Amino acid sequence: MVKKVAVLYGGRSGEHEVSLRSAAAVIDGLKQLDNIEVLPVFITKDGTWLLHGNRVAFLPDPNIGGLYLLEGESAGQVLTVDVIFPVLHGPLGEDGTVQGLLELARLPYVGAGVAGSAVGMDKILMKAILREAGLPVADHIWFTAYGWAHGEQEYVTAVSEKLGYPCFVKPANLGSSVGVSKAYNSDELKAAVAEALQYDRRVLVEKMLDGLEIECSVLGNDDPQASLPGQIIPCNDFYDYRAKYLDDRSQLIIPAELPPKLTEKVRELAVKTFRAVDCAGYARVDFFVEVESGVVWVNEINTIPGFTEISMFPKLWEASGLPFPRLLQKLLDLAEERAKQKAMLKTEYAV
Ligand SMILES: Nc1ncnc2c1ncn2[C@@H]1O[C@H](COP(=O)(O)OP(=O)(O)O)[C@@H](O)[C@H]1O
Ligand SMILES: [Mg+2]
Repeated sequence: MVKKVAVLYGGRSGEHEVSLRSAAAVIDGLKQLDNIEVLPVFITKDGTWLLHGNRVAFLPDPNIGGLYLLEGESAGQVLTVDVIFPVLHGPLGEDGTVQGLLELARLPYVGAGVAGSAVGMDKILMKAILREAGLPVADHIWFTAYGWAHGEQEYVTAVSEKLGYPCFVKPANLGSSVGVSKAYNSDELKAAVAEALQYDRRVLVEKMLDGLEIECSVLGNDDPQASLPGQIIPCNDFYDYRAKYLDDRSQLIIPAELPPKLTEKVRELAVKTFRAVDCAGYARVDFFVEVESGVVWVNEINTIPGFTEISMFPKLWEASGLPFPRLLQKLLDLAEERAKQKAMLKTEYAV
């Protein structure tokens, strides 16, 4: 039987362009699988959903079972969909919002559920939960736009006393290093906070960590497995947007050349992080590894990792023996498995 897979891409997020690149690779890869029909659903920057140029929508009613066609010859009809693959990076796609809509519609989808997506996207909540689970995260402080407006000087003092310079300033909810700065002094801190506040109401300031930037891919639902780790060597002062996507001098070393003990530690912490935020399907967990002292810090989890064919997530699986098309098949299977588990849960309470 042919499976219809709707790939959602683009989106109303600062990472729109990154999503276009990931989705091109995912769509291409899905087309290499047997019995898969791809429905590419492009979400414009202002949030219009388009299938081959015509407006479509998922509605929250679970009896609909697919994409509702709003325009074109078949307007008013429903196109059945078996699995949805959100290839959306950043807010309004990777943060539980789209996942919430798909939950209401009772449609199987690839990746983490509402809570896992929301927590994975929000660096402040993510770090609190990881710390609670005993995972090592960098010291940090955070505040809202309101808090900063009313207590800027106190926060500046707290940063210099507790974190020191340079430090990292990040909007709570974003990715691809959009709005992230490295501040070397209090003037740069203030400018960095103003920049981050353009993207979010909440901002995180973090102690700088030394060490190698190591990433590890995870795949699974109840029994997640970790890939071999890889290393990033950014071509800039840090792995900013330019170093990630615009400058091809950043290097990926796959697998990372770590002592075996540290490789195992990274893999173990990747799985623990995945479980701590109640992730599903897949994720990429990023670390800073201090090789001499053997200290491993968790930086973040990405619940919809970059997915071009040269991205770290698929490359690490390829190096671990799982080529791109089989990886996609596995993700579709995991989505259906999770949807079946959810369907078995009671939604009524009979006394
Ligand atoms: N505490 C830190 N110490 C050192 N480098 C950091 C720190 N936090 C972030 N960076 C650098 O900034 C980059 C982007 O930060 P990150 O938290 O991963 O945000 P994003 O979700 O946008 O990828 C990292 O890949 C790393 O190069
Ligand atoms: Mg990152």
